Amino acid sequence: MSVPVRDNRYPHRHLLGIDGLSADEIGYLLDVSDSYVDLNRKVDKKQTGLRGQTLINLFFENSTRTRTSFELAGKRLGSDVINMSVAASAIKKGETLLDTAMTLNAMHPDVLVVRHPESGAVKLLSEKVECAVINAGDGSHEHPTQALLDALTIRRRRGRLDGLVVAICGDILHSRVARSNIHLLNVMGARVRLVAPPTLLPTAAVRLGAEVFNDMRAGLADCDIVMMLRLQTERMQGRFVPSTREYYRFYGLDSEKLALARPDALIMHPGPMNRGVEIDSQLADDITRSVILDQVELGVAVRMACLEVLSGNRRRRSIESAVA
Ligand code: CP
Repeated sequence: MSVPVRDNRYPHRHLLGIDGLSADEIGYLLDVSDSYVDLNRKVDKKQTGLRGQTLINLFFENSTRTRTSFELAGKRLGSDVINMSVAASAIKKGETLLDTAMTLNAMHPDVLVVRHPESGAVKLLSEKVECAVINAGDGSHEHPTQALLDALTIRRRRGRLDGLVVAICGDILHSRVARSNIHLLNVMGARVRLVAPPTLLPTAAVRLGAEVFNDMRAGLADCDIVMMLRLQTERMQGRFVPSTREYYRFYGLDSEKLALARPDALIMHPGPMNRGVEIDSQLADDITRSVILDQVELGVAVRMACLEVLSGNRRRRSIESAVA
């Protein structure tokens, strides 16, 4: 089956972040994502719309969910998929990010999916290559496909995003997931609360367009969605919390704190989780409240949508330039 013909409501070459996207563009990516959910539940998941195309996953940081789901998404749409092993690449011989990007670009991939520990590195790379680039997470800056899959999860469960109160809790300071979600939820009309100790909030947190709470109980009061974040110790230089035990006591999600949210509030977490640090293990597994595995499932659909849309734009551009 080929990729369906759709109107073109996301006209960009790349997906580098949520910041700057309109509600219509985000809504369009969510609609296309939604159209892939049922396909992913079928025994035969294979489509051929991206046959002949090449996707390269270039991950400079570890990943389970994002890398695997991009690989599945590409393969389910018929694309060839290469997973570059950074550990076994010429990067280990001193090749720079941009030389690596231009080397890969010379092999004519159609899409590069890039994760990098430095904020802004993926944008820099996108300016040097001809193919479409998807940001799979750059430092503490953005992780756009994570925000899209979070939004799709909420929209499918609640039927809407606008008017919902979403409490994003934990290590906001180091979180690209938080930044992408704040942009997306604000644009889509949700009310965002940031819940964290002062040490784990950016200095200009209020300027992100959210209410800020240092008291988790106040931050969770009557919220619709509780989005928990991992303590990103790999990005921390120095101590940001006295101990993980004390952190859990004040900022870990347990049933007593969850009781302050709306009775049907959903629990979300982008993963990987640190059970017993930011979230009680039983709550994480409570399928009446936790949608953490729904987020993982919908990640494949979102990544299929992003590949479809960006590949379609690339194809259109190449036809237009051939005609001109
Ligand atoms: N949420 C997320 O980005 O997970 P991975 O690090 O496993 O890709």
